Amino acid sequence: MGRKFFVGGNWKCNGTTDEVKKIVSMLNAAEVPSQDVVEVVVSPPFVFLPLVKSTLRSDFHVAAQNCWVKKGGAYTGEVSAEMLVNLDVPWVILGHSERRALLGESNEFVGDKVAYALAQGLKVIACIGETLEQREAGSTVDVVAAQTKAIAAKISDWTNVVLAYEPVWAIGTGKVATPAQAQEVHLELRKWLETNVSPQVAASTRIIYGGSVNGGNCKELAGQPDVDGFLVGGASLKPEFIDIIKSAE
Ligand code: G3H
Repeated sequence: MGRKFFVGGNWKCNGTTDEVKKIVSMLNAAEVPSQDVVEVVVSPPFVFLPLVKSTLRSDFHVAAQNCWVKKGGAYTGEVSAEMLVNLDVPWVILGHSERRALLGESNEFVGDKVAYALAQGLKVIACIGETLEQREAGSTVDVVAAQTKAIAAKISDWTNVVLAYEPVWAIGTGKVATPAQAQEVHLELRKWLETNVSPQVAASTRIIYGGSVNGGNCKELAGQPDVDGFLVGGASLKPEFIDIIKSAE
């Protein structure tokens, strides 16, 4: 079975109620390829999840941007996987580089989070990616392999995982990876999964690209054989997100 194209919109820490309503209206009015062709998931901040979920078109879904590593309890400021399940939020983004860098989330911690979220029934967009320094040192593949290994060590079923390759140097910088650069890393990741997990998981797991994707560069990136979609930041707040969804065709 082929890998269905996946487009995620990570709204990060942006938006007011009015702005969120406008984005949802824009999404709801858009003509996009059917769910058979593309899976679309938008990820508002926690506080807007119920509003977005209740007003968003039924063929698009929502994701949280994070969740706690284990069962809820005395963890001030955290949101548990159980709470997301309780609200019927189907997806969660975990291991985003902003959380790895700014909040010190290690590979192992991200692996634990992915395993716990999956065990609660969530689907996970698991983010990996190298810094500019690591790329310039020639260690890109080692870095993303180590990040993937830490996840693989904690899970056995990859059915509900989408792997998001997001080079840190391309995030929010306007400096997108070239289609060849993205394809090269995606292919290496697929080979890693084939060797270290299974050929079936390698063939079926969607590996999506994130980092300065926009309406102008999405088509060429989407044409790469191992690019199965996108995780979009800044452009997911704008009408060009629709063009990015349409790049699935
Ligand atoms: O999660 C999304 C990525 O961080 C990409 O963000 O499209 O603003 O570069 P960006």
